[in-house]
Amino acid sequence: MPDVTLTTLNGLKAKGEKITMLTCYDATFAKAASEAGVEVLLVGDSLGMVLQGHDSTLPVSTADMAYHTACVKRGNAGALILADLPFMANATPELTFTHSAMLMQAGAHMVKIEGAAWLADTITLLAQRGVPVCAHLGLTPQAVNVFGGYKVQGRQQAQAEQLRQDAQALEQAGAAMLLLECVPTALANEISQAVTIPVIGIGAGSGTDGQVLVLHDMLGLSLSGRVARFVHNFMAGQNDIHGALAAYVKAVKDVTFPGSQHGFSA
Ligand code: KIV
Repeated sequence: MPDVTLTTLNGLKAKGEKITMLTCYDATFAKAASEAGVEVLLVGDSLGMVLQGHDSTLPVSTADMAYHTACVKRGNAGALILADLPFMANATPELTFTHSAMLMQAGAHMVKIEGAAWLADTITLLAQRGVPVCAHLGLTPQAVNVFGGYKVQGRQQAQAEQLRQDAQALEQAGAAMLLLECVPTALANEISQAVTIPVIGIGAGSGTDGQVLVLHDMLGLSLSGRVARFVHNFMAGQNDIHGALAAYVKAVKDVTFPGSQHGFSA
């Protein structure tokens, strides 16, 4: 049992304290980030890009995710471990169930799944069987080929309404957390207030209940040389990685990150 549980995260939302989440893929960073106070370590399928060097997350397998989840578990000092279900692990509810079991048995406390209201039955199935689920909405990178690129989602009225409905439907289906990626700040605020479960944002402004960044991005490392608008380099002004991790936790907690320049308008 980690020190940080879903009860802890719900309590933070209830009292208006921001939740800190950071991607993590190995034991050494798991120790450093959890000791710095990061509450949720996300074993993201972004590892396909930042560790494996692919140009998308699509090549990542559940075996890859389970391997890195087990590494993170060994170094973790009390954070909640959230592991991504990779591309196509959401193809059918039964498949999702089998792949979730692999991640939970590797050390995850919760799984994250990309999709929308069409995942409601899958989320109910998992929640009823002891797998807490975080639903990832907005820019879902596994659907990059459908979107035609990594684009802000929810800018048109109809898209925004769909996202509002998806968020409510997934909460009702039993999702324990939502993650909103690259949606306009005002819409992310609305959704965060409309649901009772914690909402974590990336490129979604400062009104969500917490923030997540990709570890390599916040350490100023980039393979492609492109830096997304919502990224801040927390190594700036620090002597070492421990300083950068502490600065990230502090900036999320005191709501100095993200600033308005990191968000998107409708
Ligand atoms: O895989 C990942 O790192 C993620 C973040 C972008 C939220 O899902």
